[in-house]
Amino acid sequence: MIIIKQLKKTFDNGLTHAVDGVSLSVAEGETIVLLGSSGCGKTTTLKMINRLVEPSGGSIVVDGRDIMQQNIIELRRSIGYVFQGIGLMPHLNVVQNVEIPLRLRGTPAGKRRERALELLDLVDLPPDTYAHQYPDQISGGQQQRVGVARALATDPKYLLMDEPFGAVDALTRDRLQQELIALKQRIKKTMIFVTHDIFEALTLADRIAVMHEGRIEQIGTSNEILSRPATEFVRNLFGKPARQLKMFNEQHCHPME
Ligand SMILES: Nc1ncnc2c1ncn2[C@@H]1O[C@H](COP(=O)(O)OP(=O)(O)OP(=O)(O)O)[C@@H](O)[C@H]1O
Ligand SMILES: [Mg+2]
Repeated sequence: MIIIKQLKKTFDNGLTHAVDGVSLSVAEGETIVLLGSSGCGKTTTLKMINRLVEPSGGSIVVDGRDIMQQNIIELRRSIGYVFQGIGLMPHLNVVQNVEIPLRLRGTPAGKRRERALELLDLVDLPPDTYAHQYPDQISGGQQQRVGVARALATDPKYLLMDEPFGAVDALTRDRLQQELIALKQRIKKTMIFVTHDIFEALTLADRIAVMHEGRIEQIGTSNEILSRPATEFVRNLFGKPARQLKMFNEQHCHPME
């Protein structure tokens, strides 16, 4: 459904190789997590998919069509995008923020409001309490949920999420992850989810793509990556979580020993 081949992006006249030959395909309904540390090219990869950044090389096919041959507005309509660092409009209230993509699409005001209120319910922000709050009046985790509601507004087939739970504490993050899993079961989207958090990747991914310096080191299910790391980099990255998981399993799965 999304097929990326040898994708490249250079900045600074070719001096910075932000993305350096990424190939990846995402099946319908699948959640792929792009996992990697700061500066490895996750955001740049995601932005190229809906043409916020033009590729320097390679190709991206969405729904059987090369994105460079597609109408850019149509392309973006089929893709919901949650920006890194939330990006809510501070002078618009919560419900107006969720309405932005619907306004751009020309949905009439009444319908727009109805849909936005429905979405706030969906992300567990009761509209009676939250619809008329401004972004600086609600918590970071609540702002991130508004960002998710906004990305879902036009019912896009694809969802690209760039560290959507980055700015919240561990407990809230855990709740948001569980909510996302529940939401996904209800709405069945094809997703690419970006994070630098290994446990978040293990929790959410159908498959994890481990990125390092603009390249993908390994793609596979959590089990595949934990049991058969393809490179030294992946082995080191997952070393500690793998030991913790093993310890946990030993303590909890063999009570008779
Ligand atoms: N517009 C730009 N101009 C120049 N260099 C850029 C630009 N955007 C990104 N880069 C560089 O490309 C590389 C990859 O950046 P990118 O934002 O994709 O990383 P990231 O993996 O999303 O990092 P983070 O986890 O910190 O968000 C970095 O070295 C960054 O400095
Ligand atoms: Mg980023």
